[in-house]
Amino acid sequence: MPPLPEIYLDACATAPPAEAVLEAMARAHREAWANPSSLHGHGLAAAERLERDRQALAARLGCGGDELVFVSGGSEAIHTALVGSDGPLEPGRVLLSAVEHPASHAAAAALARRGWEVQLLPVDRRGVVDLEDLQRRLTPPTRLVSVLWGQSEVGTLQPIEAIGALCRQAGVRFHVDAVQVVGHRRVDFNRLPVDLLSCAAHKLQGPRGVGALLVRRGVLLEPLVGGAQEGGRRGGTEPVALVAGFAAALELADRRLTAHGGDDPLAALRDQLLADLRRLEGVRLSGPEPDDPAGRLPHHISLLVDGPDGRPLGGRRLVRELARRGYAVSSGSACASAGAGAGSGGTSAVLLAMGYDPAEASSGLRISLGPWVSPADLAGLPAALELARRSVAEAPG
Ligand SMILES: Cc1ncc(COP(=O)(O)O)c(C=O)c1O
Repeated sequence: MPPLPEIYLDACATAPPAEAVLEAMARAHREAWANPSSLHGHGLAAAERLERDRQALAARLGCGGDELVFVSGGSEAIHTALVGSDGPLEPGRVLLSAVEHPASHAAAAALARRGWEVQLLPVDRRGVVDLEDLQRRLTPPTRLVSVLWGQSEVGTLQPIEAIGALCRQAGVRFHVDAVQVVGHRRVDFNRLPVDLLSCAAHKLQGPRGVGALLVRRGVLLEPLVGGAQEGGRRGGTEPVALVAGFAAALELADRRLTAHGGDDPLAALRDQLLADLRRLEGVRLSGPEPDDPAGRLPHHISLLVDGPDGRPLGGRRLVRELARRGYAVSSGSACASAGAGAGSGGTSAVLLAMGYDPAEASSGLRISLGPWVSPADLAGLPAALELARRSVAEAPG
């Protein structure tokens, strides 16, 4: 399929592969296509390549190579962390924020079927977990907490270190869904009070089909897929070329952060775009302000759009109108658009949990940037949104 004329502003759904990633994957698959468990030279070459990339990824994520378990992506990492805790941990209570990704809600539902009690942690209007409420719930039988670091729909960053410190004090296992964060800020697993951390290569211009679960030494998990690979924690022949792409993607992202003193340079582009969009009538930001102490994903804008009569407009219709005008954005998260985790008619469960009413919760629009976006790409977006807003308001829904 030829490249589409749309400017791609949906990085939080998935990011286009970087050229260096495609090259690293082609090279790895050409030179190290064999099964890394095979004992002949071909197998040894694959095992060497896999080990080199494992060590490179581990060094950038601040963990040991033995603490990194390759899986198929974010959803599998989350399921391994949560469902895999059943067994090593007796069934008890699991706490999840009310604004988790649908994958975490699904994994918690699987725990509920195994006798666990699931409780959702309330969030404020910005989507931030209430630490006092969390502390009250960190009493027996709570055994497991799972919180997403960066919220994909509304950009909220959770106070992971404070949550982790409370979990440590209470002796409760803590999993962090860092799928939207890795590549956009430094993650130093060794310095975090976190037991398990999930990430996926495709959110940072790596390939789809590979992700990692970071597992602190001593944290036991029941594998979802049995087999000898990955230290017995995830069976299946390792995807050497995908791991090579993951390593190349994280190296690129890391270099970008290093070149900007550890901060994502996309934040400046995002701030300018947000200022331009906020000059439009009927456009409101959802989630935290970029300068809110809670913090916000640096490449993320989430808006609620009202028509001239002040009534919220449907996010999905705005997305279609913007696509016609050359901009690929999304309403809420791609996964919620696919149905899971969403209420009826594209109503966002995340916005409802944050206290928005159902009409507002259907008017979410997400714009997420990546390093392929230039200021010139964004110049026409405010005018396009204004036109999209008018056509949605004028056409009967
Ligand atoms: C916060 C978060 N967690 C988990 C996932 C699931 O990751 P994957 O699509 O790689 O399974 C996503 C994907 O959108 C996400 O945004």
